[in-house]
Amino acid sequence: MTTQQAQAIHVQGLEKSYKELKVLRGVDFAVARGSIFALLGSNGAGKTTVVKILSTLLKADAGTAGVNGFDVATQAADVRESISLTGQFAAVDEILSGRENLVLVARLRHLKNPGKIADDLLARFSLTDAAARKVSTYSGGMRRRLDIAMSLIGDPPVIFLDEPTTGLDPQARIEVWQAVEELAERGTTVLLTTQYLEEAEQLADRIAILHEGRIIVNGTLAELKQLLPAAKVEYVEKQPTLEDVFLTLVGTDGKNGTPAMTATPARTRKEQR
Ligand SMILES: Nc1ncnc2c1ncn2[C@@H]1O[C@H](COP(=O)(O)OP(=O)(O)O)[C@@H](O)[C@H]1O
Ligand SMILES: [Mg+2]
Repeated sequence: MTTQQAQAIHVQGLEKSYKELKVLRGVDFAVARGSIFALLGSNGAGKTTVVKILSTLLKADAGTAGVNGFDVATQAADVRESISLTGQFAAVDEILSGRENLVLVARLRHLKNPGKIADDLLARFSLTDAAARKVSTYSGGMRRRLDIAMSLIGDPPVIFLDEPTTGLDPQARIEVWQAVEELAERGTTVLLTTQYLEEAEQLADRIAILHEGRIIVNGTLAELKQLLPAAKVEYVEKQPTLEDVFLTLVGTDGKNGTPAMTATPARTRKEQR
């Protein structure tokens, strides 16, 4: 297997502008099959733009991107068959029950045994008890879980979750995290975007920070934390949190970040305040 085949997603030199606004200025990253990759960035950093290009909804101005071995520009239909996309706003039908929503999507995809597919997914996402209830009675976390369940119909190998927990309360967020962990355990590759550092910290095998149009760091949580030396406070060694790493690189206002890989030590930063 070549490296590219081992990767579920690879992105190289991706550029995208909206008129004068250069959103992506050369984005590079790769996601290994069966892993959870978090694309972390402030509001407006370009996360959704990356996801839209990867899911063939938007064309890049320059660069290449491949999903499940297919090129997004020249093999868009194959890419679409390989993915599912769940956006920030749940695409479930309020008037139908949870089970009816799932059965409907399975039918639309011409799958055999839509009832069984629905029941299996309801069980996987702990929605069996609520299966017959109208979605309008569901909590935010239940809706989002149902939305993720719906996007899994047909077993896509790659799933994009664009800010899956934005607007959810802490309990609902934890429920969605459990659902995402389940996905990766079953071998689905997950690319999730988030503004929540804690979410990336909890879920991701690798974390990349998108800032001013580029990936300024990309690594495991442990690798990212090593960018900042541990600060010694009263003889107790304090490891930097992902939040420390993020704020040092990006800056507290999301604009005046330190340039890539030249993180200021946490201690110096503290002294500056
Ligand atoms: N269709 C569009 N036309 C013009 N500007 C856009 C469009 N879509 C997004 N933008 C701008 O591009 C930037 C990146 O947007 P987006 O990818 O949605 O960021 P994120 O998902 O990280 O919040 C923002 O400044 C946004 O206002
Ligand atoms: Mg977005």
